[in-house]
Amino acid sequence: MVPFKMPILVLTLYLLQGTGASLIKLNGNGYENVVIAIDPNVPEDEKLIQQIEDMISEASTYLYRATEKRFYFESVSILIPKTWQPKSDYEKPKHETYKNADIIIEVPNSPGNDIPRIDQFGKCGERGERIYLTPRIIRGEMLNVFGPKGKVLVHEWAHFRWGVFEEYNEDNPFYQFDGKNVPVKCSEGITGTNKVYACSGGSCSIRDCWTDPKTGKLNKDCMFIPDKVQSEKASIMFMQSIDSVVEFCTEKNHNRFAPNLQNKMCYLKSTWEVIQDSEDYKKSTPMMAAEPPKSRFSLKQIGERILVLVIDTSRSMKVGNRLNRLRQASQFFLLQIIEKGSWTGIVTFDSSATIQSELIQIESDVQRKTLISRLPNVTVAGGGAHICSGLRTAFMVVKKKFLTDGSEMVLLTDGEDNTTNTCFEEVKQSGAIIHTIVLGPSTEKGLEKLSEMTGGMKTTATDNVQNNGLIDAFSALSSGNAAITQRSIKLESKGITLTNEGWMNGTVIIDSTVGKDTLFLVTWTAQQPEMFVTDPSGNIYKNFAVETSSQMAYLQIPNTAQVGIWTYSLKSSAQTLTLTVTSRAANPTVSPITVDSRMNKDTSRFPSPMIVYAEVRQGSLPIIGANVTALIESADGTVTLELLDNGAGADVFKNDGVYSRYFTAYKKNGRYSLKVRALGGTNTQRSRPKVNGAFYIPGWVENGEIKMNPPKPEISEDENQANMQSFSRTSSGGSFIVSNIPPTVPDVFPPNRIIDLEANVEDDHINLTWTAPGDDFDTGRAEEYIIKMSKDILTLRENFDAALQVNTTDLIPNDANAKEDFMFKPDFLIENGTTVFLAIKAVDKANLTSPISNIAQASLIIPSAEDPFSPSPEDPFSPSGTSISTIVLSVVGTVAAVAIIVSVTVCVMKKKR
Ligand SMILES: *[C@@H]1O[C@H](CO)[C@@H](O)[C@H](O)[C@H]1NC(C)=O
Ligand SMILES: *[C@@H]1O[C@H](CO)[C@@H](O)[C@H](O)[C@H]1NC(C)=O
Ligand SMILES: *[C@@H]1O[C@H](CO)[C@@H](O)[C@H](O)[C@H]1NC(C)=O
Ligand SMILES: *[C@@H]1O[C@H](CO)[C@@H](O)[C@H](O)[C@H]1NC(C)=O
Ligand SMILES: *[C@@H]1O[C@H](CO)[C@@H](O)[C@H](O)[C@H]1NC(C)=O
Ligand SMILES: *[C@@H]1O[C@H](CO)[C@@H](O)[C@H](O)[C@H]1NC(C)=O
Ligand SMILES: *[C@@H]1O[C@H](CO)[C@@H](O)[C@H](O)[C@H]1NC(C)=O
Repeated sequence: MVPFKMPILVLTLYLLQGTGASLIKLNGNGYENVVIAIDPNVPEDEKLIQQIEDMISEASTYLYRATEKRFYFESVSILIPKTWQPKSDYEKPKHETYKNADIIIEVPNSPGNDIPRIDQFGKCGERGERIYLTPRIIRGEMLNVFGPKGKVLVHEWAHFRWGVFEEYNEDNPFYQFDGKNVPVKCSEGITGTNKVYACSGGSCSIRDCWTDPKTGKLNKDCMFIPDKVQSEKASIMFMQSIDSVVEFCTEKNHNRFAPNLQNKMCYLKSTWEVIQDSEDYKKSTPMMAAEPPKSRFSLKQIGERILVLVIDTSRSMKVGNRLNRLRQASQFFLLQIIEKGSWTGIVTFDSSATIQSELIQIESDVQRKTLISRLPNVTVAGGGAHICSGLRTAFMVVKKKFLTDGSEMVLLTDGEDNTTNTCFEEVKQSGAIIHTIVLGPSTEKGLEKLSEMTGGMKTTATDNVQNNGLIDAFSALSSGNAAITQRSIKLESKGITLTNEGWMNGTVIIDSTVGKDTLFLVTWTAQQPEMFVTDPSGNIYKNFAVETSSQMAYLQIPNTAQVGIWTYSLKSSAQTLTLTVTSRAANPTVSPITVDSRMNKDTSRFPSPMIVYAEVRQGSLPIIGANVTALIESADGTVTLELLDNGAGADVFKNDGVYSRYFTAYKKNGRYSLKVRALGGTNTQRSRPKVNGAFYIPGWVENGEIKMNPPKPEISEDENQANMQSFSRTSSGGSFIVSNIPPTVPDVFPPNRIIDLEANVEDDHINLTWTAPGDDFDTGRAEEYIIKMSKDILTLRENFDAALQVNTTDLIPNDANAKEDFMFKPDFLIENGTTVFLAIKAVDKANLTSPISNIAQASLIIPSAEDPFSPSPEDPFSPSGTSISTIVLSVVGTVAAVAIIVSVTVCVMKKKR
């Protein structure tokens, strides 16, 4: 059935927009609807708003120039926190919220750590999630380190919009090439000098780098310091802070030998080539004008939350106790999730709509109780569903007091209505945000569309009560605009079906970042169980508030719940029980540990694979070493997947707190929902933020003099190693639709691409390490590996099959995600100064082959005894070093020295032949 034309068209457009909930549209050459949100924790500073506008205008000019007059910023909305002084020119936001903002201005987690960063989880060319900048960057206080703020934004925008990667390499800033140690750079024309900057006991000095006599590599802390004045124009993804740099590296000047993420993820392509492959590029043509049109700004201040529950009470909602479950979940929502100060109303609908409650502002439990009493009764299930009349009535309820702009409609329905498209235009005009919660197996696409076009959330719950899907869906509806320290955080969500009389026992961990407003919620399907909760000191709580008619009970823990392990025990007859635990931040100034999860896309046509992502963080700090499990539920059952933060397979960055995994185990077309559980234990750590964003320039060479910037702030040992305690979290990741699955699913999934191949020369052997892919992406076990090598990097990329094959007869693949280590002796002699390139493919039992891996390089440099870079016999960091304030280095001299070494090298090599 093709239900309607218009929605399908629009739907396609939205799909092209990619994954996040971003509202950005590219109209001709201009980016419209870019949303920049100032985090509620940023201290009020009206000047910041003008400075954000200045940043955009500057960035627009840089962007226009860097993209050969293709792109600029057309219109930008700036979201201003509710707590800031209101002004007459501030509008009310429509679909813009903190949750779908593209750029967040926030104070850094640890003071002074003002590093621009971006969340980017996807493959080459896939859009990023969101850009984070700090007020100090916006105010131009980091000019010496990151360069002009407009350029910083262009760097982050390229990650965000076109999925390009860093061209620097912070962990390994040098590589060996042609017998030399050279800095990772793009383009190669960038000039500078290599130095060590060593500080101890409050005094700092600059020293020469030295070569490790065993490996021939430069010492770990050697770094590349660029010249302040130079003429090289590329590249923005390397060091946008250099004044002359205003372009991206192109096919012509790209350095494909530099081991950086761009080369690794994008098959050695330049950033400009990746941008040229983007949707944006393909649908635009260059402009003529020398300067881009001026950017337009609208200032929008967050107001009170206005929300209407729009509840389907039609005939089909009678199925499987849906109405009572709905009562339980909405009661929980009104009791615990919706924030104080919010205006809330209730509308029910079947073939027509009824106002159950006008808007009431929640000030205390009195209003919560009033609203709960107006929830629809179980017995009143009427005719067919007419979603549009429900929404229209809800708009009316809001309009009696407010504009509908930015108000939220929580539409709860089983989706048995194919006429939703008749009110799309009205919904769009209203400026309201529609969150949809679909109960049951319907796959009516009009519903998704309502959420998509308004920036709302989409969730789904099956009729399987045990999975607690409906309560999970409601618990995900805490305000997107409230500070994270005010939102409700879910610690546990579980269910069990007892076939005999029995117990549902378990534990939930209260960590020190949460504990306020803690609530235990229990639901049952037949008879009230016996219930009690024990705190870490052994105190027993039995005083549950029981709602017999709705078959639920809840226990509110007064004040701040004690940190530690809480246990719950429910004794019951044969029936289904669910348990949910939520809490809020313990301290308004300490970010709680949070888990956010989602799929890489909302809809997938078989055999396009899907990826699950879960971010486990405390503010911007990644939480690593947690056990993170995805539960993917459909009408068919639940699939469990362990998510990994291992920098392999679906996971681009190791230890960034983003845990990922491919999901291919779907069997039937339809709606699926995602839930993620994260458990922290003894192996869990809070880590320093993974740098993915503009490079922190260590210093500059100016007129032959080295001027260091303040060293990059480190997260203090104290904060970093903070004794990580255990924690538990559960997150709802929304719903997605899979289509086009054939009745019997053939094996169409190859092993995933290997992205972490590394090579090292050890004597006359080459040692390769990587993470094993599986039979289907990152699950199962591959059949065999094909390893190829070449002295020419492009041969390997373009003509893998023809390259020299490594004998892998003795190499048997491990299970997916295990570490592989393969040492072999090549057929040729590895000479001093040799660089060889290696790549690998995995083959599965259906003879499906993975794409070619990242290309690893192995070099051999045998330092000679008289190597001038060798460390002096005494401590290389002896206090005899010149103090930083007096050091003046003759760079001309250094260049001459390098020239001599190079010529000596050439002679030596010539002699050898
Ligand atoms: C909607 O569904 C009804 C019955 O389920 C059907 O009769 C009607 O033709 C459908 N309408 C559209 C526009 O597809
Ligand atoms: C190896 O080559 C490097 C430079 O290519 C040179 O500096 C070094 O002296 C050579 N080592 C030996 C042992 O010849
Ligand atoms: C639900 O039923 C109760 C009593 O059974 C009644 O007091 C209440 O008004 C009803 N609520 C609605 C919304 O009809
Ligand atoms: C559950 O906990 C209760 C109370 O602590 C205990 O008596 C009971 O044996 C436990 N049941 C199971 C199956 O562990
Ligand atoms: C995480 O999982 C591993 C392996 O399944 C297990 O050994 C460990 O105890 C788990 N840690 C936590 C905190 O649950
Ligand atoms: C290969 O290199 C890895 C990582 O550097 C190392 O752990 C491993 O021991 C090496 N393998 C062999 C056989 O030397
Ligand atoms: C590959 O190695 C195996 C075992 O080491 C050996 O039997 C075989 O002959 C080798 N193949 C080639 C083509 O060299």
